[in-house]
Amino acid sequence: MDANVLHKSIKSPEWWRTAVIYQIYPRSFADGNGDGIGDLVGTTARLESLASLGIDAIWFSPFFKSPQKDAGYDVADYKTIDPLFGTNEEFYDLWAKAKSLGLRIIVDVVPNHSSDQHELFQAALKAAPGSAEREMYIFRDGQGAKGEIPPNNWESVFGGNAWTRIQEPDGTLGQWYLHIFDSSQPDFNWENPKVREFFEGVLSFWLDKGVDGFRIDVAHGLVKQVGLPDVQGAATHVTGEEDQATEHPFWGQEGVHEIIRGWRELLNKYDDRAMCAEAWVLPLSRMAKWVRPDEYHQTFNFGYLETPWDRAALEKVVTESLHEFGKVGAPSTWVLSNHDTIRHTSKYGSPSIPMHGMGIGPDSEQPDEALGLRKARAASAFMLGLPGGAYVYQGEELGLPEHTMLEGKYRQDPTYFRTNGEKVGRDGCRVPLPWEANGGASFGFNTTGKSWLPAPESFKRYARDQQEGVPGSTLELYKRLIKERKQFHLGSGEFRFAPEYSSDSTLGYINNGVLVLSNFGPDSVNLPAGKLLVTTQHDLTVEGVLEHDQTVWIKL
Ligand code: GLC
Ligand code: CA
Repeated sequence: MDANVLHKSIKSPEWWRTAVIYQIYPRSFADGNGDGIGDLVGTTARLESLASLGIDAIWFSPFFKSPQKDAGYDVADYKTIDPLFGTNEEFYDLWAKAKSLGLRIIVDVVPNHSSDQHELFQAALKAAPGSAEREMYIFRDGQGAKGEIPPNNWESVFGGNAWTRIQEPDGTLGQWYLHIFDSSQPDFNWENPKVREFFEGVLSFWLDKGVDGFRIDVAHGLVKQVGLPDVQGAATHVTGEEDQATEHPFWGQEGVHEIIRGWRELLNKYDDRAMCAEAWVLPLSRMAKWVRPDEYHQTFNFGYLETPWDRAALEKVVTESLHEFGKVGAPSTWVLSNHDTIRHTSKYGSPSIPMHGMGIGPDSEQPDEALGLRKARAASAFMLGLPGGAYVYQGEELGLPEHTMLEGKYRQDPTYFRTNGEKVGRDGCRVPLPWEANGGASFGFNTTGKSWLPAPESFKRYARDQQEGVPGSTLELYKRLIKERKQFHLGSGEFRFAPEYSSDSTLGYINNGVLVLSNFGPDSVNLPAGKLLVTTQHDLTVEGVLEHDQTVWIKL
């Protein structure tokens, strides 16, 4: 066996080891009733078009009942679809159609916190301190003579204090409750077995209905350190090897793993279901602990998402990922964009990559759109050739940029408000999709032109109908990549880097006999012999040459 092989080929892998999973952000995918917010009827009408991409599954960001203070990540009822998006029946209709198109369905579960409108939190507010109702969440008395100082120094990920003081039923100022995110998102108390039972009920409900899997929100935050000790500042990531890390009181606590194991046991009672963790945990050696055989099936590889378009950095992160996930028998996932991060076209076009959660706004230095798109296409082609599971965020198949000029008056992300605009937040990657260039002000997102976030004029060029069937378009590129990925079983292939085809400025790897070669440097290089399967600069390529920021797939 070749010692350079970083991933061995797998015969008959389970679906989740190799799947290309497409993330739908429901409020921005397609709007059926014209109110400016995407919905299930609108989505169902666009499903054939989506299936033509060749994807295996859809992950829906939350569409459950919610006051929408954090775009649905504040859930008020885990079993009911929010009327904003439709009804449970409409979801089952969508699902039936998805099934007929061969697509699996993954739903988003938010177990770290609920909405403050959830009946459990409402009951907690009405009950007395120390009651069973309050014990479902994390209530504490304040410090200071009158309890006027928050119980500790924790800060919210979205900015500001992580504690909010309530008015007790008798009208006096009383206890404080913890919210790692917005004040409308109180954290559950995972030390309480009743909370565990409650979520087993939620998971079982959807498993019994037949969902193929779950994406688990803030999977690294559920358990808080006993005694809730102070922390230095706010952090969204867990970093450092476990043995040398200074413990963070609310990220990556060891107790999380026992909860995961319980869920895995539950999923194992069903056929073929999978769950993926949203766990901002680094380095990858630590992240890999989340996907040990009795824990999650997958976890988002945020180490990869945060890697710049850089030859050495990519070689390192791929090597590390395949090594670390491989050690525990899990597939790596690959992801470049999602609803919380800057779209990778704009990220690669920016002079410097903004900090996580920062966003790019009108006052930031603006990205170079053409260069960003070119690099993004090359990066997507590099990613989709790798073995493991891949995630595609809606709109990246169109090459959509971030809306970087969105005015403050339209912004809805709590990050923007909780930092007084210092961080513009995540709205720029959440703008509704353009379907038709001449489809009115919303570019075919609906027929009324209404849109919860206005699309920039440039979206016209990226509209899906401008790309469908057009050789060289980003949409056709994605279709081709996914098709060849399937054809050559790259998701489960034998992988090694190919130094014989690489140089200081180019990086090549071979997966199941397909050479994926990217050029990161300024100069063109000659293409090796073989059958050209895909190129990211279709119409620009001088035959036989690989130009800067371009990727090709060649069957050797
Ligand atoms: C996750 C979601 C993000 C949300 C947060 C709080 O990070 O991806 O969109 O704001 O959790 O639920
Ligand atoms: Ca709608």
